[in-house]
Order: sequence, then structure tokens, then C-alpha cells
Amino acid sequence: MSGFFLTLEGIDGAGKSSHLDAIETLFSAQGRRVTRTREPGGTSLAESLRSLILDEPMDALTESLLVFAARRDHIVRVIQPALARGDVVLCDRFTDATFAYQGAGRDFDAQVLSTLERWVQAQPDATNLLQPDLTLWFDLAPEAAAVRLAGARLPDKFESQPVDFFRRVAQGYAERAAGAARFVRIDASQNREEVWAQIEAALRERGPAAGATPR
Ligand code: TMP
Repeated sequence: MSGFFLTLEGIDGAGKSSHLDAIETLFSAQGRRVTRTREPGGTSLAESLRSLILDEPMDALTESLLVFAARRDHIVRVIQPALARGDVVLCDRFTDATFAYQGAGRDFDAQVLSTLERWVQAQPDATNLLQPDLTLWFDLAPEAAAVRLAGARLPDKFESQPVDFFRRVAQGYAERAAGAARFVRIDASQNREEVWAQIEAALRERGPAAGATPR
């Protein structure tokens, strides 16, 4: 069985993480082994970097370098071995978040991010870069996301950004999604059941059981 790399993306408050359990259950019911993970994070080193990234003020280049350092460790130690075993890798955020948050949100140089992406996501056999097979992009207006975030747990460095920041991040996601066929847009403004129906449909049509191209 070939591995399948699924990522979930969207601005803070879009509601993606609340569907992870159900997605994992769906794959398990199909007899697939699931490696569930997140970024920044997924290894002990990357989780330590996550705390720094989310809590410490730093310039956008430092932030980008730390995000990609965490990603490199995560890829080498978790994602690649899991895909090689034939697992479904279910990852809460990946590089699209860097282009959206550091690139668009913080107005950092996208060419530098592309260079880091090429270094960090290079495959051992030097073929294509490691990229998700499918990305579910939870699209929600920043104003609606702000309402959902208000009153939630203590906000981190990103969650406490003004709505203008999330307008840029949302635009960054839209641009990234326009450039790659692996994205499926989920209308995250709908209620939970309707959002789940969209996710199920996307996985039926584009998920591992739909006969996605083997790696
Ligand atoms: P989470 O709350 O969805 O786990 O994401 C953690 C925060 O980190 C979220 O606000 C987005 C941010 N982030 C970046 O700024 N750049 C990245 O590359 C990633 C993966 C996350």
C-alpha cells in the first residue's frame, strides 16, 4: 500500500483541527494505518521549536528558519518513514502555512521561502520535492474566524494578531491554492455537519481510497 500525505490548512479559527479525530477514524475504518501529526511540531525537537515560534518575538527570517528547521526534523524522522511504511500521514498544517503566515502575513520574501522549501523538502532520491498529496483548505472570512477565536483559550503570538494580519494570511492561502491542483477548498463558514460532508466528499474523490497516484 502506498503512503498518502494529507494536510489541513486555514487561518486560526477556521475549525480544521476539530475534524482530525473523525478523519483519523474514517481512514482507520478503511484499514489504513494513520500517523497523525502537526506543524510546527511532530518530534521532540520540533515541539521545542514550536514553543519558541509561538511564544517568542522574533523577526520574520528567524521565524521562517525555525519553522523550516522544525519541518526538516519532522520530515526526516516522522513523515518520510511513515509514508515509506504505507501510512496515511494526517498533518495539521505544513509549508502552505509558512507561505501564508510568514510570507503573506508578515510580508516576508517568498523567494527565500521557496529556497528553504527546496532544501528542506528535497527527497532522498532527488526527484520531486516532498509535497502533500491532498490539502484540505478551510476557507473562512477572517472576521468570522475572529468571532470564533474570541473567548477561546489564551491566544498565542499569531492568534492575537489583528484581523488585518489574517486578511493577508487568507489571501496568501488563496494564492497558494490557485497554484497547485492538490488543494480542495472547504467552505468553513458552514455548520459542523456540512463542513464534515464536504471533507468526506473530498476524501472520497481525492483521498487514498480514490486511487491516488502511488508515490
Ligand atoms: P496551530 O494552532 O494550528 O497548531 O498552528 C500554530 C500556529 O503557527 C498558527 O497560528 C499558524 C502558525 N504557523 C506559522 O506561522 N508558520 C508555519 O509554517 C506553521 C506550520 C504554523
